[in-house]
Amino acid sequence: MKWIYSVSLAVTLAMQPAFADELFGQHPLTPEARDAFVTDLLKKMTLDEKIGQLRLITVGPVVTKEVIRDMIQHEQVGAIFNTVTRQDIRAMQDQVMQLSRLKIPLFFAYDVIHGQRTAFPIPLGLAASWDLDAVAQVGRISAYEAADDGLNMTWAPMVDVTREPRWGRVSEGFGEDTFLTSAMGRTLVESMQGKSPADRYSVMTSVKHFAAYGAVEGGREYNTVDMSPQRLFQDYLPPYKAALDAGSGGVMVALNSVNGVPATSDSWLLKDVLRDDWKFKGITISDHGAIKELINHGVASDPRDAVRVAIKSGVNMSMSDEYYSKYLPGLVKSGEVSEQEIDDATRHVLNVKYDMGLFNDPYSHLGPKGSDPVDTNAESRLHRSEARDVARKGIVLLKNRLETLPLKKSGTIALIGPLADSQLDMIGSWSAAAVAAQAVTLRQGMENAVAGKATLLYAKGANVTDNQGIKDFLNLYENAVQDESRSAQQMLDEAVATAQKADVLVVAVGEARGMAHEASSRSDITIPPSQLKLLDALKATGKPLVIVLMNGRPLALVKEHQQSDALLETWFSGTEGGNAIADVLFGDYNPSGKLPMSFPRSVGQIPIYYNHLNTGRPYNAQKPNKYTSHYYDAANGPLFPFGYGLSYTSFDVSPVKMSATTMPRNGKVTASVTVTNTGDRDGATVVQMYLRDQVASISRPVKELKGFKRIMLKAGESQTVSFPIDVEALTFWNARMQQVAESGKFSVMIGLDSAKTQNAEFTYL
Ligand code: NOJ
Repeated sequence: MKWIYSVSLAVTLAMQPAFADELFGQHPLTPEARDAFVTDLLKKMTLDEKIGQLRLITVGPVVTKEVIRDMIQHEQVGAIFNTVTRQDIRAMQDQVMQLSRLKIPLFFAYDVIHGQRTAFPIPLGLAASWDLDAVAQVGRISAYEAADDGLNMTWAPMVDVTREPRWGRVSEGFGEDTFLTSAMGRTLVESMQGKSPADRYSVMTSVKHFAAYGAVEGGREYNTVDMSPQRLFQDYLPPYKAALDAGSGGVMVALNSVNGVPATSDSWLLKDVLRDDWKFKGITISDHGAIKELINHGVASDPRDAVRVAIKSGVNMSMSDEYYSKYLPGLVKSGEVSEQEIDDATRHVLNVKYDMGLFNDPYSHLGPKGSDPVDTNAESRLHRSEARDVARKGIVLLKNRLETLPLKKSGTIALIGPLADSQLDMIGSWSAAAVAAQAVTLRQGMENAVAGKATLLYAKGANVTDNQGIKDFLNLYENAVQDESRSAQQMLDEAVATAQKADVLVVAVGEARGMAHEASSRSDITIPPSQLKLLDALKATGKPLVIVLMNGRPLALVKEHQQSDALLETWFSGTEGGNAIADVLFGDYNPSGKLPMSFPRSVGQIPIYYNHLNTGRPYNAQKPNKYTSHYYDAANGPLFPFGYGLSYTSFDVSPVKMSATTMPRNGKVTASVTVTNTGDRDGATVVQMYLRDQVASISRPVKELKGFKRIMLKAGESQTVSFPIDVEALTFWNARMQQVAESGKFSVMIGLDSAKTQNAEFTYL
């Protein structure tokens, strides 16, 4: 295929002035060649042209295509986001080639968060698979589809560790754990960038949001983050570092402040940590509008000042730029910003364009004109079977009383609930270019599964919410919640009548996708009242009740847990969600997902996370004592712990075997267990290894995930799973902010969730 693109490039460039010929060629993708090329190019650029490269622009009602054309002509734009078809992207790149003096290609970026044309499960659901092969597959396909649309960069992965289910963006990340989030982020970067972001079907990643956005106080969107340096470095920063060590070319700067300093003005974070300590060579990009928000944060007096602060703090590129172009020229003229500072930022933009291969072929992700898909939404562009496979892996079985599940494909099944037939909710928030009309709802999936074998009845039963204020909120930017012509009571009556005719009830409840999104924080994380009323009415029928949850955050589910015979967490599971959930419901797939976040009993328990400190007065459920750390009005601990998830088969975990009882300085020990499938079905599970530093110079968590392995066991089969433990797993940031591994005893805990483990110990010498 390569030659086709070269021919297209040659044809395009043949129409260009001589300068373009000098710019484009077969430039070796090495840092040395890149540095020489960029140094040379910078010399040819005027100050305005350099500033133009620092601007990231989105096409919209104000900045129309015509305005962008003008910007392109005057080299006033470096990259575009939110343009997602090859035709539109090509039109702009053509304008660069035809109208601009320097012909520096644009790069094109988009929020490819869980797939591009094919929606995979939301990241929280993907994390629940604990399956790095599945994650890599999602990364490769997402990159393929994005690159096939002409994109060069994605604003992903989001690796903001969070202990805040109230925060809407938990849906976009990988949950509460540092180790799991790091593994997910690293795998996505490797799989999306491939061997090189310049490859035809790779895209460059931009890890976000640097830093600690997931720790916004109270889970309230865009709120303040304040935390100890130990916690920042131990729990929150490692996933960004892991993504960068995996080669992520970009970093998106967070909107929040950390310890009083907005990330967008934090030169310590963006220079000392990112560049000096972590040796990051790629590009930093502000989040949308973040530069002018420095005024609201109270660290800049006016827009000009905000620009000065941001560029000097190390923000290379300005997203949705209004002000870099307006104020940087004057700031350079007055000497407040040096030309060297502009050169440094521009160099990073040109570097990533070079790494994207855009100076070899500005059309590398576009191909020749005639190759543009006639129908961008064509079925043939989707990866359905992979989406179905991945979605099944992220589904978590939370309860299965008396083996209610799997369902038999016979008799009469009533499927009820406002989420049972909703395509929009199935694809989830941040669904990129995925088309809701191509999503398989649970109703369709179950119909496919039982066709000709069982009778499937359906009733909506309730609206997602009857709260007008929330409906208006959800409908702000999309037609998310349509009003029913029937009253709530009529819907409920129909649902109960439908239920009466069935042998078993499957009820799809939870959140609309817009409830778990950016700017969708909740102060209450229960299922909305309209749906709770439906559950009560259906419970009263006395029929076996299977609750299928669709949601983008941990919910408080105490009553629903009690009401249900089976409880299945399916998140928003993407284009093939309905088929995937049906596979699990009917036992064509044995569930193996594990929670990537603790599920609290109530909002009052938040923050609740498994790797907490012990405190001086830990609560002991066996020996309750008033003066211990707990709430007197609720059970201690979460409803479902981190790492939890059931299967249709059962597993036994043997006692832990240590390769040695001592670990030499900088040496290794290995902890092993034998896991046996003791049931009568084949099944997969995730073996999790936690460590605890028993006595250290500072208090250390009661357990921390340090290894996991997903295994598949046939009925009756056993497998020994070994976890090598090295010094890195013992290391932490001490009170003086040094990274140390202290000698002493360590507990090793291995199990199929974070609460129930087999334990051993070793001594680090
Ligand atoms: C704002 C969000 O915070 C960020 O995650 C996203 O990538 C940008 N908007 C662009 O859509």
